[in-house]
Amino acid sequence: MNNAIISGTGFHLPENVVTNFDLEKLMDTTDEWIQERTGIIERRYVKDGVGPAGLAIPATEMALKDAGLTVSDIELIIFATSTPDYYAPGSACILQHEMGFKNIGALDIRVQCSGFVYGLSIAHQYIKTGMYKHILLIGAEVQSTAMDLTNRGRDTAIIFGDGAGAVVVSATDEDRGILSTHLHSDGAFLKELWCELPSSKMRPRISQEMMDEGRHFLFMNGKEVFRNAVTKFPEVIMEGLSANGLTPEDVNLLIPHQANTRITEMVRRRMKLSEEAVYSNIHKYGNTTAASIPIALAEAMREDLINPNDIIVFASFGSGFTWASAIIKW
Ligand code: COA
Repeated sequence: MNNAIISGTGFHLPENVVTNFDLEKLMDTTDEWIQERTGIIERRYVKDGVGPAGLAIPATEMALKDAGLTVSDIELIIFATSTPDYYAPGSACILQHEMGFKNIGALDIRVQCSGFVYGLSIAHQYIKTGMYKHILLIGAEVQSTAMDLTNRGRDTAIIFGDGAGAVVVSATDEDRGILSTHLHSDGAFLKELWCELPSSKMRPRISQEMMDEGRHFLFMNGKEVFRNAVTKFPEVIMEGLSANGLTPEDVNLLIPHQANTRITEMVRRRMKLSEEAVYSNIHKYGNTTAASIPIALAEAMREDLINPNDIIVFASFGSGFTWASAIIKW
C-alpha cells in the first residue's frame, strides 16, 4: 500500500511587519475598516531582492528537519506560486540549485490560492503509484511587489502579504494519510482576480504606459470574489467529505486558505463547525495566496492542534477562479 502522509512541515515569514497603521500613511484607509472587513491586523513584506525561492529556503530547512530528512532524500520539488521569481525559469529550479538538491524534477505550478492543494494532489498521485517516496511541496509568494499602495489599489493592497510554507509528502505502509483531493476551476472569472502584466500577448510585454495604468498590479473585484468564495468553499469541502463517507462532524481541524476572516467565518457557520475546528492566522500575515495553508498547517502543528488519526481538511478558493479540497487522516 502506498499511502501519502505529510511527514514534515515548515514556514518562514519575512521580518518586515506592515501594520494597518502603516498602510494608513500610504492610502485613505483605516485600521478599523481593514480589521472589520478582513480580520487582518498586519502582514509581512520582503525586502528588495528576495523572491519566493528565497523565502522558501528556511521553510524547506524546517520541513526537512521536522521530517528527519535531508536534501538528498527528496526526489521531486513541487513549487506552488503565483508570483514566481522570474518569468523563466521556475522558482523550483532556483530552490533546487540554491539548496543543493540532486538533479531531480523541479516543477512550478501556477494555481494561485489553490496552488498548495493542487500541488498536494500531484504529490499524492506520484506517491500512490510508487514512483517517489519523498516529495517537497512548497507554497511561497511575494505579493507585496504586486500591490498598488495608493488609493487606486486600496481594496486589494490591504489584503495580501508575503510568506512561505513547506511540507514533505512521504510514502507510508500505514493505514492513514491523504484520503482524496478534489480540484476545480472556472476561467470565466479570470479578470475578477488577476495580474495582467507582463503578458506574452503584448509586444513589448510591458511598457511605461501600461504601468502608468496600473496594469502590472494585482486587481481584485472583491465583491465577486467574496460571493463565489462563500459558496465554493463549503461545496468543495462537502465533496471531499462525502467521497470518504465523512460529515462535518468528523472534522477535527479545517485549515482553509486564509483569504479573509469574514469568508472563513461564513464558511464555518454554513458547515456548522465550532470555532476550535477552524484554524485562522490571517490577522498576523494577511492573505499569502499559495503559502497560506502550509504556513497555517506548520503553525497548527507547533500549537499541538493536530493528533494522530485526526481528520484534517484543507480547502482553497482563489484567482482563476480555482477551488480545491484535500481530506487527510493524520
Ligand atoms: N479602506 C477604506 N475604504 C475602502 C477601502 C480601504 N482599503 N477599500 C475600498 N474602500 C471603500 C470603497 O471605495 C467603497 O467606498 P464607497 O462606498 O464610497 O464607494 C467602500 O469602501 C465599500 O467598498 P466595497 O468594495 O463595497 O467594500 P466591500 O464591503 O466589498 O469590502 C473587500 C471590500 C475587498 C474587503 C471585500 O469585497 C472582500 O472581502 N472581498 C473578498 C476579498 C478576498 O477574500 N480576496 C482574497 C481571495 S483569495
